[in-house]
Amino acid sequence: MSAPANPAATANPYESDRFLAEYLLFHFGKDHEVLPWESGPRDALGFVRRTARAAQAASPKGGRALDVGCAVGGATFALADHFDEVTGIDFSSSFIQAANQLLTGKGIDYPRIEEGSVTTTLRVDPPAIRNPKGIHFQQGDATNLSRNLGPFDCVHAANLICRLPEPMRFLDQAPSLIKPGGSLVLATPCTWLEEYTPRNKWLGGYSENGKPVATLDRLKAILEPNFDLETRCDEPFLIREHARKYQWSVSLLTTWRRKAGH
Ligand SMILES: C[S@@+](CC[C@H](N)C(=O)[O-])C[C@H]1O[C@@H](n2cnc3c(N)ncnc32)[C@H](O)[C@@H]1O
Repeated sequence: MSAPANPAATANPYESDRFLAEYLLFHFGKDHEVLPWESGPRDALGFVRRTARAAQAASPKGGRALDVGCAVGGATFALADHFDEVTGIDFSSSFIQAANQLLTGKGIDYPRIEEGSVTTTLRVDPPAIRNPKGIHFQQGDATNLSRNLGPFDCVHAANLICRLPEPMRFLDQAPSLIKPGGSLVLATPCTWLEEYTPRNKWLGGYSENGKPVATLDRLKAILEPNFDLETRCDEPFLIREHARKYQWSVSLLTTWRRKAGH
């Protein structure tokens, strides 16, 4: 058996070349590159722009934002249209390397799988950025963020919590990361899987005393001592695996306002 091209990818799938290419397409692909099928779910396109817009709608212009689990940085770049300073953090060094490459003005060529081992090369051009000096990417762990990072006017974490081994360790940091009156934008498709999160750490999708526990109810119980729930909506998204296979999912998007004096 030959060695994998990137040994870290065996431990963390988000280090793999396959996920890197999928996320470059998911974050930066043009609509027709992601979904050439007329009959496909067009309202699922542009997910990172939509979650970033929710963060912008929840916050006045200017200020500081944090994008946790930023992947290759699509939402981070979008947030920088609105916030003066944006930090994108992800555990995957290959995702952060790609985001930094775009930040320094270099495009990226990447393969899009058509079928089997047949690929088409696509290109991401560096995004137009209002204030490149205000954007920072760093590799880091959402469950163990540096104490010197905050506070922020907005924390955006899209499709992150059900990919963490201990999601509570991220949510426990939220009150100290966010200024009073600031916002927390969380999106999650509630895809609780033991390969990412041990069952006893799930924040929903299990039964207690014979009753199903929904992720939204757990989030309310966890966050309401320090945050008010402001908005809740369902945001579809589409990840293309190959020309004829997609993951269509629906993320539960909630925005929370940090209470004053807590
Ligand atoms: C499902 S992807 C979502 C990425 C992006 N926010 C989006 O909406 O497309 C989950 C991301 O969380 C990152 N991640 C997983 N565990 C993490 C951790 N402990 N700390 C920071 N990021 C993590 C992964 O590398 C991946 O980029």
